[in-house]
Amino acid sequence: MFKKLAASALVATLVGTGAYAAEEGHVTDYDFSFEGPFGSYDQAQLQRGLQVYTQVCSACHGLRYVPLRSLGDESGPGYSDAEVRAYAEGNFEVFDEEIDDYRPARPTDTFPANEAAGAPDLSLMAKARAGFHGPYGTGLNQFFKGMGGPEYIVSLLTGYTGEERQQAGTILYENEAFPGGWISMAPPLYGEDVEYAEGQPEPTLEQEAKDVAAFLMWTAEPKMMARKQAGLTGVLFLIGLSVLLYLTNKRIWKPIKHKHS
Ligand code: HEC
Repeated sequence: MFKKLAASALVATLVGTGAYAAEEGHVTDYDFSFEGPFGSYDQAQLQRGLQVYTQVCSACHGLRYVPLRSLGDESGPGYSDAEVRAYAEGNFEVFDEEIDDYRPARPTDTFPANEAAGAPDLSLMAKARAGFHGPYGTGLNQFFKGMGGPEYIVSLLTGYTGEERQQAGTILYENEAFPGGWISMAPPLYGEDVEYAEGQPEPTLEQEAKDVAAFLMWTAEPKMMARKQAGLTGVLFLIGLSVLLYLTNKRIWKPIKHKHS
């Protein structure tokens, strides 16, 4: 009886995870500078990603939880105060209730929300989509390889097959990374969509996708580097403490342990 039950439970689990895996899209493992315990954001990459977001994605997607002044963060894109001000004024208008009118954005504002196209806000998207468990569903890939939200975003942006179909008046585009396989976002990037500054890599599709994914990881977790550093300090402290406790313990018990010998 028990054997039978265990066997059917095992089969149910296997079938269940199989069905789930088929539903989950295909995500490729890309390398990012911020992976691993010592990883950090690549400032030039964040700046390129901001450029892709501003020139392409911001047409439909908002970043309503991201303060514009954070573009000046040392561990972020690292722009100067004047550059942040110029960027805010040059790219966005916000509605100011005090003057009951639109005015150019200031560093003290956040990036505007954008709900016009029915596109989700991207502020936290890289973390919201971090639950990817890898092709074999062990749940360990994210830990060992850093496969999470940014990998998903790159796979999504590069995962269009070119197939389209119409459903209830909406055009859906086939995408290998999107769960279910059909997304209502038209392919936003093709390569050569932006022009990067002198000395930066070529704006190929994959390069642009990786840059904007890195930028979105930063918007979702701007303090990642400080967090990693605090974690590392904590671990080193605990190792030191363990050694001291071990030696103290030995010393305290020494007279008793050596009494009869
Ligand atoms: C023409 C408008 C438009 C543009 C431009 C656009 N998107 Fe989208 N995006 C959408 C819509 C609409 C959805 C919702 C799709 C759905 O759920 O079927 C979406 C969804 C997404 C999602 C969420 C997918 C998920 O798992 O739910 C991500 C991530 C995303 N877009 C990233 C980007 C990035 C990065 C760019 C810029 C390179 C971009 N988008 C440009 C309209 C757009």
